[in-house]
Formats: sequence, structure tokens, C-alpha cells
Amino acid sequence: MASLLLNVNGDQLEVTAPDHWTLLEVLRYRLGLTGSKQGCDKGDCGACTVQIDGEPQLACLALATLCEGRAITTIEGLMPAHLRAGGKGPDPLQDAFDRCGALQCGFCQPGMLLSAKALLERSPDPSRDEIRHALAGNLCRCTGYTQIFQAVELAAAEAQGRAPTPPAWHPDGNPWMPACSKAPAKGESR
Ligand code: FES
Ligand code: FES
Repeated sequence: MASLLLNVNGDQLEVTAPDHWTLLEVLRYRLGLTGSKQGCDKGDCGACTVQIDGEPQLACLALATLCEGRAITTIEGLMPAHLRAGGKGPDPLQDAFDRCGALQCGFCQPGMLLSAKALLERSPDPSRDEIRHALAGNLCRCTGYTQIFQAVELAAAEAQGRAPTPPAWHPDGNPWMPACSKAPAKGESR
């Protein structure tokens, strides 16, 4: 057994776990932070992605004992960090995913959001190719990815106070921005 001191979402937490346990196992089965998903458990799917010192990392491949002294962020920490920074409601990226319908079953979302968040922190205005590249390790069985890419673009654009670039195929503007940005008025359909 190892006695660990982990910094998770800004909290210093003491926990005891078998020496060989991964960070994902400690998060889920010792700390009750089940937002990080156990998908393949072998580094293929990205569902377990957390941030370690701001970088997206696969928690299923990270030995928990090697994570002492590092700043670990899980999906549970995203909104509290936003609130602590003076924001309101969910993190803007979470909000953009919600408004763009960028999820179905939601299993991939924690990892997807933490990978995308890390991208926006190092590259605030990423191209579609950069987004694709940053999210290449996060598999989604449901959405087909388009709304996910759009949500990241929406969050990036809004952070810079501009409207996101409309999809190239659309003749007169951005069909998803109105639906993403506001609730329909009474009697108006999406
Ligand atoms: S659970 Fe870690 S990559 Fe799939
Ligand atoms: S929303 Fe179901 S796996 Fe992505």
C-alpha cells in the first residue's frame, strides 16, 4: 500500500491505495471522482483524460504514485475553477458543448472537454485542423465529431468576442450559432 498526497482540483488529498494503482483507479475508486471514465483502460480511447500540470494525460496509464506533487484537474474541477475565477455557471467550454449539442451518451465528454480545454489554453484561436489534432486521441462513438469541433470553435470565438466562422457549406451564415447562442423565443422552433 502507498500513502499518497495528491493535489486534485486544487484540494490536497491524502489517500491510501495499492502501489500499482493508476491515477484513474485512485480517482474513481478511492476519491469517488467518477467523471473520468474507464473505457478501454489501455490508452486507446481517451475517456480517462485528465489534466496533469495543465497537459492532457491518460489517467489509465499514469501511475498514481508518480502524480504526487502535480496539479491534477478532472472534469469535476472545471466549473468550480471557473467560479473561483469570477465566472458564472459552467465553464464556457462546457456551456458551448451543451449549446451545440456536442454530446449524446456523454461517455467521451469529460476527456474530450479536458483535451479541448488544454488546447484552448495553449492556442486560444485554434484552426479546425488543430482541434482535430488535439482531440485525435479522444474517441466518440456517438456524435460524428462535427458538433464537438463546432463547440470548441464557438468557445474560442466567444472568448475573443467574435462570432465563429460559419460552416463553409452554408450559403447564408451560420445555422448553428443562433441555436447555440440563445434559447428559441416562444413559438419559434429550432
Ligand atoms: S480508459 Fe484510458 S485511454 Fe481508454
Ligand atoms: S457522446 Fe457518446 S461517446 Fe461521445
